[in-house]
Amino acid sequence: MRHPLHAICPYFAMFPERFVAEQLLAYTRPKDLVFDPFCGRGTTVLESLLNGRAAIGSDINPVAACVAGAKAQVPELQAVLARLNALEELFEAIDERATPPSDFFATCFHVKTFAQIAFLRERLTWQDDPTDRFIAAVILGVLHGESHRSAMCLSNRMPRTISTKPDYSVRWWRERGLEPPERDAFKILRQAASFRYSKLPPRAHGKVVLTDSRKAAERFVEHNGKVALVVTSPPYLDTTDYSEDQWLRLWFLGGSERPVHRLNRDDRHTVPTDYWSFLSEVWNGTEPLLRESSTIVIRIGGTRLAKDALLEGLQSGLSEAMKRRTVRALHSGRSSEITKRQTNSFRPGTKPERLEHDFTFQVT
Ligand SMILES: C[S@@+](CC[C@H](N)C(=O)[O-])C[C@H]1O[C@@H](n2cnc3c(N)ncnc32)[C@H](O)[C@@H]1O
Repeated sequence: MRHPLHAICPYFAMFPERFVAEQLLAYTRPKDLVFDPFCGRGTTVLESLLNGRAAIGSDINPVAACVAGAKAQVPELQAVLARLNALEELFEAIDERATPPSDFFATCFHVKTFAQIAFLRERLTWQDDPTDRFIAAVILGVLHGESHRSAMCLSNRMPRTISTKPDYSVRWWRERGLEPPERDAFKILRQAASFRYSKLPPRAHGKVVLTDSRKAAERFVEHNGKVALVVTSPPYLDTTDYSEDQWLRLWFLGGSERPVHRLNRDDRHTVPTDYWSFLSEVWNGTEPLLRESSTIVIRIGGTRLAKDALLEGLQSGLSEAMKRRTVRALHSGRSSEITKRQTNSFRPGTKPERLEHDFTFQVT
């Protein structure tokens, strides 16, 4: 059975933990440090910790930082339940309950459920406190989903992977006469959180920072020169806008009440030269973290770039960014069909990639 912590919350283009486990086995020893500059939901970080490696990650998206951060520093279940109970008591004691700010929120959530969600949104200090971060990550995983099938999600019927746009969602619910279910957020959170502990969490802690990965070395000064392995998957060329597609989860973490287009300009580069410059700047921000001899494994796809072009772009970008070192490709790339799980993660209406490619570089 896969570790239940992996699936706290779905995320776009997440790679399977098996892929990470293979790289750990091939290129690291116990206690080595592993880094993912585009850590997404934290697959590299969690799988590394579970396998006795140290792990750090960075991502510019608050949803990624929250979910991966929760996996990097898993609190005791007792602390999570105690905090939830305390929050529930506080919630019961307040007189003024928040009401849905728009048609969308009023149709997405039952008025009582919305008041609980809004209360938690106000109170959880997810950026600073590991217990609150874990609770926030669990909420992100149950915030929306197929409520006609699962009693464990808080919203009217919606996909679990992406947050659909507000106007579209309201129309869709109204056309079908769908009302939001009344769900007790505290009860669901206690259940959802407890389930994540049905296998022992990693004992060691890692660290995830919310940052542009160009600045990763500045944020991980204590790890400079120590990373043995990078396992990562950057945004693919012209594929998806992570922030727009996760807008409701971003709202919960303090973001806007409506989706914001191109919140992070690097999510969806459309011009190949800009794309390669962006990646080169990230490799530049990664370089000081690498130890003398290290390995970089990159999973990448993109309908507009063939495998050869990807290898060429990565090789020259890495060499350019790591001028003081030698960068050598260990093979010409291994390709795999995108599995259902990953295809699912792309927006309806976008052309899914059929293949993605894994490239491995030795850096000395
Ligand atoms: C393909 S996803 C990584 C998914 C990850 N492998 C997983 O299993 O969940 C790419 C990630 O890059 C992040 N990203 C985009 N631009 C970034 C930047 N400038 N700095 C850091 N992260 C960035 C996105 O937020 C997204 O989470």
